[in-house]
Amino acid sequence: MITLPRRLALAGGAALLTGGAASVGPAPGIAASDGLHSRAQSKGMFYGAAIDHAMLRRDAAYMARVPVECGMVVAEASFKWEQIRPTPDRFAFEAAEELMAFAASRRLRVRGHTLVWHEAMPDWLPAQLSPATGERILATHVRTVAQHFRQRLAHWDVVNEVVQPEDGNALGLRSTPWLKALGPRYLDIAFETCAATDPGALRVLNEYGTDYAVPWEEKKRGALLDLLASLKARNVPIQAVGLQAHLDASQVALDQKVLNNFVNAIASMGLGIIVTELDVRDNNLPADIASRDAAVAAHTRAWLDAVLACPAVSGVMSWGLSDRRSWLNEKYTRADGLPQRPLPLDVDLGRKEMWEAIAASLATAPHRIVV
Ligand code: G3I
Repeated sequence: MITLPRRLALAGGAALLTGGAASVGPAPGIAASDGLHSRAQSKGMFYGAAIDHAMLRRDAAYMARVPVECGMVVAEASFKWEQIRPTPDRFAFEAAEELMAFAASRRLRVRGHTLVWHEAMPDWLPAQLSPATGERILATHVRTVAQHFRQRLAHWDVVNEVVQPEDGNALGLRSTPWLKALGPRYLDIAFETCAATDPGALRVLNEYGTDYAVPWEEKKRGALLDLLASLKARNVPIQAVGLQAHLDASQVALDQKVLNNFVNAIASMGLGIIVTELDVRDNNLPADIASRDAAVAAHTRAWLDAVLACPAVSGVMSWGLSDRRSWLNEKYTRADGLPQRPLPLDVDLGRKEMWEAIAASLATAPHRIVV
């Protein structure tokens, strides 16, 4: 059994462990007793999945399976600027509220994703961002959106994918319209405004590309750790790091020691960790389904075992629940045209070897409890 230090608990650790604002929101989900969320809860963690809006509206069977396996959901797109802010003067929360209603009716917690990103920006935004307008535009958006969902979200991915050392900026920051308009201070503005508006939502910096022992990801892990140290030194109210975990079953450079050292280095700063977008692409593997599923499961197990060994990891979200829907089939199409099999459930909503791998990793992970 692992005990979280009180300082981590006070910095939202209670929220980390319950996967939600420590004091508000519905009781934890009523996942099936053998579902992944129930298995995660038995170790003081949560499990959940991203929901595509079209699936929410059109696939009742898929959505019926969500509360069986999940205790937390997140929208693939509905909470982003592109969907929520069609014009400078209009906020459109309808799609996001459809997910909120689904979650409330099944007693699921919700992650907010995401307040600041360089993608999914509405067409009007980049052109209007400047040093003179940037702070007002950013703070108004964060404040208005965080206020709208106040006390209803477990987490906010306050900023998304901000590290890109190759861009040559200070602190390894990615060159984005936000950095161009405001400099690194855009991070401070986003986190401080979110903290002031909805202090009960855990504040997360979400990042990808930190998974493998390859030079460019080693550089990215180093840059992320340096950025986190800088944010902590400036007293920026960040509470946790989201590791997206978009994995590749054909990638052989999965080094569990490197991964475990990395998550422990994040935890040593008093920050929580959430696995936010787990999926495992198989587009570089041979077509045979049995061997693809076995490779995806083995990769999932190896990655999760290394990461969940760290007691600061409070939960795992997969980027989708079933192979019925994955962004990977849009981004990384297989040469043979077959659909990929990157998620815990198959297209018939049956549990795959990847589901077994997540369950096994949860079973061997140390228990978290806040003293
Ligand atoms: O809602 C509109 C719909 O009205 C329109 O008819 C349709 C066709 O143009 O587009 C719909 O919006 C799409 C939206 O997903 C909802 O389906 C956007 O065009 C499309 O760009 C958007 O893609 C999402 C993408 O982020 C960009 O926001 C993907 O679903 C989502 O899986 C992906 O998720 C990202 C994470 O946020 C960050 N980490 C990487 C991950 C994968 O790229």
